[in-house]
Amino acid sequence: GLRGLVFDLDGVLVHTDELHFQAWLSIAERLGIPFTRHDNDRLRGVSRMESLDIVLSLGTFEVSATEKQVLADDKNRVYRELLDGLTPQDVTDEVRSTLATLRDRGLRLAIGSSSRNAKLILDKVGLRDWFDAISDGENITRSKPDPEVFLRAAEFLALTPAQCAVVEDARAGVDAAVAGGFTCFGIGDAATHPRVTWSIESLSDMLDHIEN
Ligand code: G6P
Ligand code: MG
Repeated sequence: GLRGLVFDLDGVLVHTDELHFQAWLSIAERLGIPFTRHDNDRLRGVSRMESLDIVLSLGTFEVSATEKQVLADDKNRVYRELLDGLTPQDVTDEVRSTLATLRDRGLRLAIGSSSRNAKLILDKVGLRDWFDAISDGENITRSKPDPEVFLRAAEFLALTPAQCAVVEDARAGVDAAVAGGFTCFGIGDAATHPRVTWSIESLSDMLDHIEN
């Protein structure tokens, strides 16, 4: 049976996906590149630099490696200013009670996020202590859809991928989970991904699929 859960962070536990969008939008506007929430879905789960490449691909000009580094740093500066406003109120009661129930059912919980800001976010919203392990952008070399971040999370939990399920809102994240040999809950933009094991509308729906 299932022994552990690996949660994506941005867009699953906290709505930082909207803050990523706002920060990328400010960069895109500065460059005169049209950028919509629909475009933002392609950036879910994707690293900062790869996200920048996607944003730039919506424009018509080339940017040097040096300029790209400046743009990525600027995006992160804007994003961190937005993160500064996060408080425990940015986590819903549903998220907290779902995590509490999962712990009561004896499951080990981990974070599996491509973000280098994951620990900062978890501290800001007061969720860090809920997790037995954190695998994030600081301990990987390849971003989703590569399974590395989830494989490290399972390893940190001392479990095998087959003993864990991933919870994702990103299509790249579902691909990563499947590639790593995990079952997967898909929520939001990932709920319609054909390879999810369980499609859920709301986080607490996952409890229906986990032994009591
Ligand atoms: C998560 C988000 C992505 C983001 C990536 C890197 O996977 O879903 O949208 O690009 O983390 O985040 P960072 O905070 O390191 O820029
Ligand atoms: Mg996400």
